[in-house]
Amino acid sequence: MRVKDKICVLTGAASGIGRATTKLFFEEGAFLVISDIDEDGLEETYNLLENAEERVSLMKVDVRKPEEVKKMIEFAIKKYGRIDVLIVNAGVVRVGPVDEFSDEDYELLIDVNLKGTYYTCKFAIPYFKKQKCGSIITLASVAAHIGQVNHANYCSTKAGVLGFTKALALDMAPYNVRVNSVSPGATNTPMLQSDVAKQARDRGVEYEVVKKEFEQEGVLGRWAEPEEIATGILFLATDDASYMTGADLRLDGGWTTR
Ligand SMILES: NC(=O)c1ccc[n+]([C@@H]2O[C@H](COP(=O)([O-])OP(=O)(O)OC[C@H]3O[C@@H](n4cnc5c(N)ncnc54)[C@H](O)[C@@H]3O)[C@@H](O)[C@H]2O)c1
Repeated sequence: MRVKDKICVLTGAASGIGRATTKLFFEEGAFLVISDIDEDGLEETYNLLENAEERVSLMKVDVRKPEEVKKMIEFAIKKYGRIDVLIVNAGVVRVGPVDEFSDEDYELLIDVNLKGTYYTCKFAIPYFKKQKCGSIITLASVAAHIGQVNHANYCSTKAGVLGFTKALALDMAPYNVRVNSVSPGATNTPMLQSDVAKQARDRGVEYEVVKKEFEQEGVLGRWAEPEEIATGILFLATDDASYMTGADLRLDGGWTTR
């Protein structure tokens, strides 16, 4: 068991990569505080785990709201006395040409992807500094590395997450806390499915046409399953990655190697 008895806090656990990561960390022996804005989805995740009540707590948290994020971190500290792994996963995608983008969607991207990442780390950092160990893992994206058509605003938030992660790694190194990001490529989750469906609608083409295009972006020619991203997150959480900090793990099927 690779994270046996480790205390892990994870945002965005109701779906996709967050759900797969919760399942993997649970199987690998972790104690988890999982959160999401979507309470029903969070319960679905919880119900997938056998005897979850022994090792998993769930909390409805909107990462846009600092007071809720703070409560989650304080809950984990009160219950367990420390946080070994913080997985900053909650995120949203909105796509469209910049000149037609709604300010509402723009603010949502900034609030969830950037401010949410900042708040989640901000409230946990004082505890990490005190305990002088631990691992923080953020979710960047291929969109942090390359441009994608109609994704300018999403790309800017994920490039922001990447920059934030690298700089935070410097700040936390004196405290023996590693800070890394994961950059998934096209991963088969509700987020990607809704992105593909919107692009298909906007362009007046079949869902399968856009899906195929995304599959061809990576040299492996297929989407990742969320479990394949979870294994990368697990690696960064363990001592197998003990000399990695400020790094970005690209799990993108070769998309950014082209
Ligand atoms: N799926 C992909 O292809 C892909 C590619 C690159 C990066 N990512 C990143 O991976 C992460 C997980 O994405 P996913 O594909 O699993 O998406 P998903 O939509 O399946 O899951 C995202 C989760 O975040 C939650 N969430 C959204 N807004 C929130 C808020 N304000 N507060 C708390 N929780 C909130 C959602 O309810 C959902 O459960 C995101 O940060 C995403 O940007 C995904």
